Amino acid sequence: MSILVTGAHGQLGGELCRMLGDRATGIDVDSLDLTDAPAATAIIRRLRPEAIINCAAYTHVDKAEMEPEKCRAVNVTAVEHLAEACGKLDCPLIQIGTDYVFGLPPATPRPWREDDPPRPQGVYARTKLEGERAAARCIKHLIVRTCGLYARAADRRASNFVRTMLRLGQERTEVRVVDDQRCTPTFVPHLAQAIIFLLNEAGSNVPWGTYHVTNGGETTWCEFAVEIFRMAGMKTVVRPIDSAEYGAPAPRPAYSVLDTEAYHRLGGPLMPDWKAALAEYFTKP
Ligand SMILES: NC(=O)c1ccc[n+]([C@@H]2O[C@H](COP(=O)([O-])OP(=O)(O)OC[C@H]3O[C@@H](n4cnc5c(N)ncnc54)[C@H](OP(=O)(O)O)[C@@H]3O)[C@@H](O)[C@H]2O)c1
Repeated sequence: MSILVTGAHGQLGGELCRMLGDRATGIDVDSLDLTDAPAATAIIRRLRPEAIINCAAYTHVDKAEMEPEKCRAVNVTAVEHLAEACGKLDCPLIQIGTDYVFGLPPATPRPWREDDPPRPQGVYARTKLEGERAAARCIKHLIVRTCGLYARAADRRASNFVRTMLRLGQERTEVRVVDDQRCTPTFVPHLAQAIIFLLNEAGSNVPWGTYHVTNGGETTWCEFAVEIFRMAGMKTVVRPIDSAEYGAPAPRPAYSVLDTEAYHRLGGPLMPDWKAALAEYFTKP
């Protein structure tokens, strides 16, 4: 029996497959399109996995506004099928959720807790919340909400903010970055370790349910960019702008810092502060 990791070519799925080694069977859209329900059910029945970690998702936040059905098929319908198959096989389902479910600012700014009411804005955010609800139909489920993922530097396929900044920094002397969205960038290897801990302990020391897992502290994308260039030894100037000036098609949360206390109380691997995590990106490729 192995752990089935979907989205295995993505940032998180790839890291989980590396860390789990022989314990994992990784699949991605080239071997199984999860929106093909009969094919997905057939593979799950054949493999009879010990657990499924669903890292597959439609993650193009802006493009989702133009193709909501495609986004929904991956982020909701596919999860419904996974949950149904898992329920029938009594197989745990680990679904990856997002800080974007907290789309509107809180009344008083404090990190969001797992039971705070989500108010997603935009197609991606709404479908991810629906996907969480679909996963929760499987009794043995974990929903791991996270934020601002960046894979290790050696993952050349990864598309994320750190890689984008480093590329732009090679091309330009100045970059404009939004300074009115507070979040916690999260280094994928740290998240992957936490997920493996949760999975190993699930059902005994870790109750089924939803957990927030990010690196520690909070920042803005602008401040994050400044640190990226500083640690990379680049002289690129970062000019703060607001979200309106940036003008992305999909809305982004103004405040999406997640409270990770419930996760840490379980005794899982400590999630370092975001600056320490970024330093690891540069020192441990
Ligand atoms: N990235 C972030 O900043 C962030 C923040 C919070 C939460 N999350 C959540 O964390 C999870 C992992 O994110 P990530 O950054 O690792 O995503 P990613 O790098 O975009 O990986 C997602 C993978 O899923 C695959 N996929 C898409 N449609 C599929 C389908 N129909 N069938 C099978 N596979 C399909 C993608 O293939 P293609 O590339 O070919 O489409 C891709 O390889 C997602 O659930 C995401 O919503 C991400």
